[in-house]
Amino acid sequence: MPKWLQDAVFYEIYPQSFYDSNGDGIGDIQGIIQKLDYVKELGCNAIWLNPVYDSPFMDAGYDVRDYKKVAPRYGTNEDLVQLFSEAHGRGMKILLDLIPGHTSDTHPWFQQAKQAMPNELSNRYIFTKTVWDAPPEYRMMCGICERNGNYMVNYFSSQPALNYGFDKITHPEWQLPCDHPDCLQTAEAIKDVMRFWLDKGADGFRVDMADSLVKNDDAKYATAKIWRGVRDMLDRDYPEAAMVAEWCFPERAINNAGFHMDFYLDHYGNGYSRLFRYGNWGDEAVFNKNGRGDLQAFTDEYLPAYNRTKQNGYISFMTNNHDMPRVTAYLDKQAIKLVNAFIFTMPGVPFLYYGDEIGMRYQADLVSKEGGYSRTGSRTPMQWCDGKNLGFSTSDTPYLPVDQSEDAPTVENQKDDPDSIYKVVTDMIALRRKHEDLHGNGELEFMSEPGKIPFAFRRGALVMYFNPLSTDFEIDTRYDGDVIYKIGNAEIADGKIKMQPQSFLMIHTN
Ligand code: NOJ
Repeated sequence: MPKWLQDAVFYEIYPQSFYDSNGDGIGDIQGIIQKLDYVKELGCNAIWLNPVYDSPFMDAGYDVRDYKKVAPRYGTNEDLVQLFSEAHGRGMKILLDLIPGHTSDTHPWFQQAKQAMPNELSNRYIFTKTVWDAPPEYRMMCGICERNGNYMVNYFSSQPALNYGFDKITHPEWQLPCDHPDCLQTAEAIKDVMRFWLDKGADGFRVDMADSLVKNDDAKYATAKIWRGVRDMLDRDYPEAAMVAEWCFPERAINNAGFHMDFYLDHYGNGYSRLFRYGNWGDEAVFNKNGRGDLQAFTDEYLPAYNRTKQNGYISFMTNNHDMPRVTAYLDKQAIKLVNAFIFTMPGVPFLYYGDEIGMRYQADLVSKEGGYSRTGSRTPMQWCDGKNLGFSTSDTPYLPVDQSEDAPTVENQKDDPDSIYKVVTDMIALRRKHEDLHGNGELEFMSEPGKIPFAFRRGALVMYFNPLSTDFEIDTRYDGDVIYKIGNAEIADGKIKMQPQSFLMIHTN
């Protein structure tokens, strides 16, 4: 287990929208290099970079045409290597995005696989035996090439599924078992991609749809076995490299598959969504001041998963990612401050989505860009300062429009504002990094009655009290201690915690 994960705080960068260094309207790698000091100042010591590979961008780069080549719009492989070394020089790590489940239909592997004549890549993707064969239980593209067969899709139609075989075989005439040499070869091809970038200085990968490899794999054991092989490779050859899964099933991702981290994703109705996004635009979220949230739905899911996996890896909370509406669409500013206090004091390895530190808004009405659809509104350019494109680019045609509102938050106007989300985010990250009790592997004890709001949890000598509601509370406490941080009005006196609406208190117990 790479030790650096213990106090890692990640910053997710959507490269096309971060900073445009050459005025072509699209963010680029040199732009990220120029902003590394900014990321470091936030307190983040690691970055997850969304895909930067060559792609036709039907799904914002999650449709890879060449895993080993940086998309020209972002720069060159040399730029990426420079980013690795500039980051390392600042004590920071870079995780690339790995997309192992599918490629673009323009990838040369697919171009070869779809040919009529059988060849050595015919089994790299999943094709049925003939085009007349399209079992409705699978998502198939039919009649699009000279090869007499339909291909299985992993996400959008232009993203054919790579073939790692089937666990339960229901159509033996075209489904291969996982131990078929061609399926094993697919895993080797992805490992080869990983080695390519790790050898150039990457520090690991965020793994897209990590659970999607083997098909008809109900308990995901066969998929986990492939990742175990990958983890063995890392432990042996790249022991400092880390992988975070897009899986949202920590027992499987961490305990079975060997991922160092697993994202706690926004799946409607799960524990994560209950916290910030539940109901009609958050009206049933735990952090909504109206008190209609269900904390127990979160603790009942999270705590057992945390307890079962904490010896082996980390559950990753995120402020948001590029797939869901920013939290500003759901909660008011004071609530968002509490959300950040929560995310950065929980165990695991937290992820901050670019722009969330300044409270960027979800731009609900934008026309879809590069397969973003409703996600486009969370992918708009970073807002740096006043002026053209809020400092993102000098181009007249930026990748996406920036927030047009007069009071659009920018780094410049939030940074020195004592009442800003920026202040809470940076303070909380600094506290997390400073206090070992708040690190990823520190202990956690939920102290309040199950489900009761306000609530509290203890991490070593530190206790966090949250009152997300719009009413005052007095809570008995068995602790005495010094206030380390507060949001809103809250105090500890005579064995009681007094909390005004929407407040947070962190105390150091004596
Ligand atoms: C999950 C990614 O986060 C999302 O943006 C992408 O569209 C799909 N996987 C398909 O790769």
